[in-house]
Amino acid sequence: MDIETKIWKINPSAVADYSRQIDEAVRLLEKGEVVAFPTETVYGLSADATCEQAVDKIFRAKGRPADNPLIVHVAEYEQIGMLVTSIPGMARKLIDRFMPGPLTLVLKSNGTAAKNVTAGLDTVAVRMPDHPVAIEVLKASSVPLAAPSANRSGRPSPTDADHVYQDLHGRIGGIIDGGPTGVGLESTVVDCTGEIPVILRPGGITREQIEQVTGEVMVDPALADQKDQPKSPGMKYTHYAPESPLWLIDGDDSFFLDQLENLEQEGSRVGVIASSELATQLLDKRVISCGSRDDLKEIAVHLYKALREFKKSDVDVILCESFPEHGVGEAIMNRLEKAAVKKINQF
Ligand code: TXA
Ligand code: MG
Repeated sequence: MDIETKIWKINPSAVADYSRQIDEAVRLLEKGEVVAFPTETVYGLSADATCEQAVDKIFRAKGRPADNPLIVHVAEYEQIGMLVTSIPGMARKLIDRFMPGPLTLVLKSNGTAAKNVTAGLDTVAVRMPDHPVAIEVLKASSVPLAAPSANRSGRPSPTDADHVYQDLHGRIGGIIDGGPTGVGLESTVVDCTGEIPVILRPGGITREQIEQVTGEVMVDPALADQKDQPKSPGMKYTHYAPESPLWLIDGDDSFFLDQLENLEQEGSRVGVIASSELATQLLDKRVISCGSRDDLKEIAVHLYKALREFKKSDVDVILCESFPEHGVGEAIMNRLEKAAVKKINQF
């Protein structure tokens, strides 16, 4: 593949000044091309969700397995109703409380979304992003847009336009560069087709937040047990992988330092991804700090960029600190466990 990838730079706090750029991007989408745009979580790679051929270009550009369905993005509440057979009460409550925002609901599809969007399932995932550029593109588009994260399949999701460019230039019609994204991790995917909402993928909206609205919430057992077949098809693939193998270290700081020292003594070049608290103890090392371990939202913002930073040519192994699994920590650890080839526990 080698097509011209157009790049439009848009200042998200002044989208009204960029209607020409938005129009150009939307015209490409209406012609059946794929275009990447920023959302509040990560960059998405979008195409007309009602057009099978356009959606197929997303799968090809990403190298994404065909059995992994896509999220349909909308700008208005009414558009959700146009994609599904019905909106159950709990879904309505979640929509009222968290949309627009980093939440995706799985509902019964009415068949409006193309077959390959839903990978043949009878459900469709829907989300309303909370980002001025995404909203503007969706409003200008006459159709809903299917959009997975705008990375090559298996790589960390892009939190900056430059990450999209690294992975996809020459393979897609365009990239809307709206600067770095906010949340840093993808939306929480919640299945609302049963009696009780089920979290299929932890993300920007926490389990605690959902519980406050719906009372009860379940977590897909496959998230805890690798042997189960996950209900969210995407969760079974290798994901978020950095160039060099990542080892996830679960223990206190002195345990982490021991692992690092062992590897260095064996002659390995080690890169470290850590909290600022641990990073300050490693000033003479190759270390990337993602922020304070007391501020998991901050860690989430910087995590994917950190996973992209270390190159094969520089480090043989990446050691990464583990984080507490509460709040957005649940999503952070879900991604790190997928990114890791090995986990070392102190206890
Ligand atoms: O924050 C996000 O959600 C980003 C931005 C771009 O919106 N998008 C994103 O899309 O993360 P993607 O394709 O990387 O992840 C979509 C996830 C996958 O795990 C997929 O299997 C699941 O949602 N999914 C999509 N449709 C589904 C369905 N009908 N039933 C169950 N899971 C579904
Ligand atoms: Mg993805």
